[in-house]
Formats: sequence, C-alpha cells, structure tokens
Amino acid sequence: MIVDLNSRYGLNPAHSEVVAACKVIEPCNMLDMGCSSGRNALYLSQLRFNVTAIDINPSAVDMLKNIILEEKIANIKSYIYDMNTASLDEDYGFISCTVTLMFIDPTRVNSVIADMHARTSPGGYNLIVCAMNTDEHPCPAPFPFTFKAGQLRDAYKGWKMIKYNEDVGTMHNGAKLQFATLLAQKPN
Ligand SMILES: C[S@@+](CC[C@H](N)C(=O)[O-])C[C@H]1O[C@@H](n2cnc3c(N)ncnc32)[C@H](O)[C@@H]1O
Repeated sequence: MIVDLNSRYGLNPAHSEVVAACKVIEPCNMLDMGCSSGRNALYLSQLRFNVTAIDINPSAVDMLKNIILEEKIANIKSYIYDMNTASLDEDYGFISCTVTLMFIDPTRVNSVIADMHARTSPGGYNLIVCAMNTDEHPCPAPFPFTFKAGQLRDAYKGWKMIKYNEDVGTMHNGAKLQFATLLAQKPN
C-alpha cells in the first residue's frame, strides 16, 4: 500500500513532471538534484526507485533524513551537495532536476549538464524543468540563471527527446514565465 508520506510531513505532492516521467521510466538507481525536503524523493522511493537525494541546503537535507529515519525508508540516501561543483561520482538510470538549475552559478550550468550526461547510464533518462527568460516572456524573478529559447533542447543533441516544451507557467505569486521542460533518453 502506498502511504501519502508527503501529506504526513507537510510536503507538497511530487512535481507533476516527475509523476509523468515515472509513467515512462522503470524503477532504477536515480538521482534527485536539488531535492529540497524530499517531496519527489519520497514519491520515487514508494515507486521502488533507489533514490539519491542531494541539496545544498543542510536544513532541507536534515528534514529528509529525519523522515527517512522515522519511516525506516531503505531506498533513499540523502546528503549535502553543491551542484556548482559538477562532481557526481555514481552512474544513474534517471537524473531529475526540477526547478533547481535556475538557482546555480550561470557559469557552471554547461558543466553541470555535461556531468549529468556523463553520469547517466546508456539508455537512462534526464528530466529538467527550469525557468526561461525570452523576449515574449521576460522572467519576472531575479534568478541567477535562465534558459534562452531552444537552449536546453540544444544541450541534448543526440539524445532521444521524450518530451520537450517551453510552455508558460505560473509562479507561486501568480507571475507568468516560461519553463523549459525536457525528458530525454541517452542513446545506448
Ligand atoms: C525550488 S527548490 C526545488 C526543489 C525540488 N527539486 C522540487 O521539485 O520541489 C530548489 C532547490 O534547489 C536547491 N539548490 C539551490 N542551489 C543549489 C546548489 N548549488 N546545489 C544543490 N542544490 C541547490 C535549493 O536548496 C532548493 O532546495
């Protein structure tokens, strides 16, 4: 039986793109980059993924670790990690990075994506959702990094594009902006 751990710990439901990706991707070793307090990690663990959940924020990681202990969850490990270092040291069948790339150092984004590519197993998947800044929809928030039109798609040349769009979305405060959403599969 799947228990709604997100509600139990006051977390939002998993990101809708993570939920959608799990309809395509079989359970495997997966990495949640910028996991915050674990809303996606908890969901994925209940679907039998082996989750590594990493974030730069120690209190977010502590909260997730407390949930892991409290619920005796065996298939999530979580630790503090600065994505700007682009220094992953394991391979994964699925790497997910939802609404997080826009917070990192813009000069490190290419290295971070290259590291994600290198650490994805052949046939494995990357999911990225990130804010954009375009002429049609200037980004209303002062994120350090935003994608330009087509930029994220171009970073995945040679991968099978399962999903790609640059749809307009709404932030918590109601402001409108475009998000680049990509689910892509690495060639075998
Ligand atoms: C808006 S939250 C998104 C959390 C989660 N991915 C989700 O979908 O709910 C962004 C997260 O990125 C983390 N973050 C920001 N900069 C980071 C960095 N350099 N390395 C790792 N995590 C970072 C923040 O601590 C925060 O938890």
